[in-house]
Amino acid sequence: MKVAIASDHGGMNIREEIKGLLKELNIEFEDFGCECETSVDYPDYAQPVAEKVSQGEFDRGILICGTGIGMSIAANKVKGIRCALVHDMFSAKATREHNDSNVLAMGERVIGPGLAREIAKIWLSTEFEGGRHENRVNKIHQLEK
Ligand code: RB5
Repeated sequence: MKVAIASDHGGMNIREEIKGLLKELNIEFEDFGCECETSVDYPDYAQPVAEKVSQGEFDRGILICGTGIGMSIAANKVKGIRCALVHDMFSAKATREHNDSNVLAMGERVIGPGLAREIAKIWLSTEFEGGRHENRVNKIHQLEK
């Protein structure tokens, strides 16, 4: 699995935490910023991650900002992206099983690094259930037309 990761200035600490997790899990990843000396605009960082996942260059994306909301809204504008904003472990599992989410968004001003790490761990290791959920995911993409 190849993961693209990025954050704005509001999500830098959790981004570092998740990069540590990816290293531990031996998951290949690329960091798309930010360097964030000053405040930046989250869509500029959601865009490359979402596009790389949409184009199939990366299997999954992880985006962090202050709330996770801006990143998730921006990522979901890119065709083929199913970005889930997750702040609990139940949803981390459910969104993989039911929505086949390919991008995970989290908010550093909402949860701490320990919970973010557990959420990412579950999200990265849970498979899509398919079956009845397949048709529903297809219907989401019908909305893009
Ligand atoms: C930045 O201040 C903040 O707006 C951003 O990190 C994010 O929370 C937006 O949704």
